[in-house]
Amino acid sequence: MKIAIIGAGKVGSTAAFLMAFKNLGDIILVDLVEGLPQGHALDLMEASPLLGFEHSVLGCNDFRCMAGAEIAVITAGVPRKPGMSRLDLLNTNKRIVEEVCRHIKKSAAKNCIVIVVTNPLDVLCMVAKKALGFPRQRLIGMSGLLDSSRMSYFIGKELGIPAKHVYSTVLGSHGDNMVPLTRHTRVGGKPVEKLLSKRKLAEIIEHTQQAGAEIVAHLKTGSAFFAPAAAITEMVEAIVKNKKKTLPCSAYLEGEYGLHGVFVGVPCVLGKKGLEKITELKLSSEELALLRKSAEETRKAVKETGI
Ligand code: LAC
Repeated sequence: MKIAIIGAGKVGSTAAFLMAFKNLGDIILVDLVEGLPQGHALDLMEASPLLGFEHSVLGCNDFRCMAGAEIAVITAGVPRKPGMSRLDLLNTNKRIVEEVCRHIKKSAAKNCIVIVVTNPLDVLCMVAKKALGFPRQRLIGMSGLLDSSRMSYFIGKELGIPAKHVYSTVLGSHGDNMVPLTRHTRVGGKPVEKLLSKRKLAEIIEHTQQAGAEIVAHLKTGSAFFAPAAAITEMVEAIVKNKKKTLPCSAYLEGEYGLHGVFVGVPCVLGKKGLEKITELKLSSEELALLRKSAEETRKAVKETGI
């Protein structure tokens, strides 16, 4: 498969590295900054003898390099600064995502699957939907997988076990109103609610909701990129290898969870057609109310911005 990554910043270039390492396909790294995608691509390819990449990574300033791309990952945009919310990035990143979508429509393969990563994620998925006009199968957002991974790490750390044994579920929008669901989180098959106290779980929920901002506060000049890149790679791998794997992603709901016409993080089955199915978990009325509140936040931003 040909995979285009638009935006050769830290998230895009790290995702390129992981995808090359996992031999997921030929990668085109596109960025308008002269030399940036070329430099990262060359650096990556110089690691190929050591790491055994079987595919090529090409850096390019011209969007036409995306010709024939079957997957396009949009990471282009500005990151948060300390104290900013993801929504504060909306006006700048909206213009960037609209422009990128125009090029994807023009240059990528006709059946291209698009993964939006740029923040504010769910709102920019709405922007991309409008700009691309793609069916929901071919347009998904990366966020829930990152948030769930963070939650799993915090739970694993608390229990003193490797986080890979923790299966966390975080739904809703990728913002302060995301919905970490402890009732749907398991540790080696056991419900986490049987292993940790309510107080500890409440702390972990809050930590998960603030995890992106915590990294921004540490870095001061950028946001997280290793975990976001790992989450992107997991989604791309599920598509490339037709894994039919259920991963929390932002998807355009058409009635699921009682929500219509809005991107929200929900469990999605990913395979070669992109979003192949949305899984409807049995949520309590309280959980459902939180999910709807989170979707409302996206709707409000969409309305206020006139998308
Ligand atoms: C984060 C940014 C990438 O959560 O949204 O780290």
